[in-house]
Amino acid sequence: MVVTGENDTEMKKRTHSVKEALSADPETRVAILGWIVSKSSIGGIKFATIRDGSGFIQVACKKNNVSAVAFESFENANREAAVFIEGVVREDKRAPEGREISVTDFSIIAQSEKWPITKSAVKSSSSFLYDKRHLAIRGRKASSILKIRAEIIYATFEHFVKKGLTLISAPTIVQNAVEGGSTLFELNYFNKKAYLSQSAQLYEEAAISALGKVFIFQPAFRAEKSKTSKHLTEFWMIEAEQAFATQEDNIRLQEELVKAMAERVLSNCSSELRILGRKFRFPEVPFPRITYDEAREISTKNGIPFSWGDDLPTEGEKLISKQFDVPFFITGYPLSARSFYHMTEEVNDKVTRSADLIAPEGYGEIATGGQRIHDYDTLMKRIAKQELPSESFTWYLELRKYGMPEHSGFGIGVERTTRWLCGLKHIRSASLFPRTISRVQP
Ligand code: 4AD
Ligand code: MG
Repeated sequence: MVVTGENDTEMKKRTHSVKEALSADPETRVAILGWIVSKSSIGGIKFATIRDGSGFIQVACKKNNVSAVAFESFENANREAAVFIEGVVREDKRAPEGREISVTDFSIIAQSEKWPITKSAVKSSSSFLYDKRHLAIRGRKASSILKIRAEIIYATFEHFVKKGLTLISAPTIVQNAVEGGSTLFELNYFNKKAYLSQSAQLYEEAAISALGKVFIFQPAFRAEKSKTSKHLTEFWMIEAEQAFATQEDNIRLQEELVKAMAERVLSNCSSELRILGRKFRFPEVPFPRITYDEAREISTKNGIPFSWGDDLPTEGEKLISKQFDVPFFITGYPLSARSFYHMTEEVNDKVTRSADLIAPEGYGEIATGGQRIHDYDTLMKRIAKQELPSESFTWYLELRKYGMPEHSGFGIGVERTTRWLCGLKHIRSASLFPRTISRVQP
């Protein structure tokens, strides 16, 4: 049974967050609310590390400095109990952050049972940490990743608003496949077939004629049937689309965005990066570029051949990505490896004006973008040639009848970008509650 502390109904008043306490002057009196991360004792002094979401701080409790009730509560508080601490900030070189709180009052707000995430439990099953994800996210590494992911998103909003893009939202229940039919999640929509959206791109293309430049941040769904370290079935995508813009403009927007993301993560997340042991080379613009043909040559030379026109095999992409320490573009993908909406080069209609943005060090593709077909007849022929259900594309085609200029855009995966910037083995660590082929729980 969980035993709660005294003063159950009376919320203790917090004066400082942990982060504020860590930067407060020595001798400042503080009251904080948080959770016990770990406990120890040296001699007669009891120590605990406290987490409140803003940071971690060590607190020291001496019998002589507190009431008997407070001391007993400190001793009884289990790992992960929610607690109230009042005390004085002291400088202490031995404390992890150079500061600790000398406790003057302590109480348990919500006691915790014995914490189930132990080293032996984690070792016993490879899925344990994800079965217990609702608890495991409290870990230092897991919570650092969530913070960095948030900064990546804030950077996007900040950058795009500065660049004059307008935020839109689009339906996630749709009838159009954007990226091919094989990864669609189908649903019964009042006896009609509908799907979960793979990408908001087609809606963005409608919105640019109203708003000029738009961006969107919402979930995308892919019924990915393969287990890989870079695929989720539900992930968050940032997409941008600009009217009167070529693929060259589109590439520039991607470079600037990724640079802004890296800048914000570096300036706001130094302790999180330290916890993750992650260092990355700053992505200065412009990013390097190689062509699809060059990528094919490198892959083939290294024992991973593939036919011209096929998508880059995952292993080929990985080995090329390992040759770079900053993100780079692979340009000029064949039309056969791309979705129907891609515009092709005037000089060669087998090659698209599109590129993948590849994260370095083996992380692989994080974004895909390109210039779209803006001409009605060309698009109609493409839809017919690929035998797509033309009825569901009527509205998308109609956009081309009413003043559709050159336009281009891209989609960048939030979890893939987080995986790269955090240096994670698997993409699932970049998601609060990952959805994969084998997981829809918790
Ligand atoms: O490359 P994709 O499929 O491109 C599109 O959807 C375009 N319609 C976007 C656009 O131009 N507006 O997806 C874009 C990005 C990928 O580069 C990758 O980062 C991410 O979305 N992504 C995934 N992330 C995790 N799991 C998956 N299964 C993903 N599929 C794509
Ligand atoms: Mg792609």
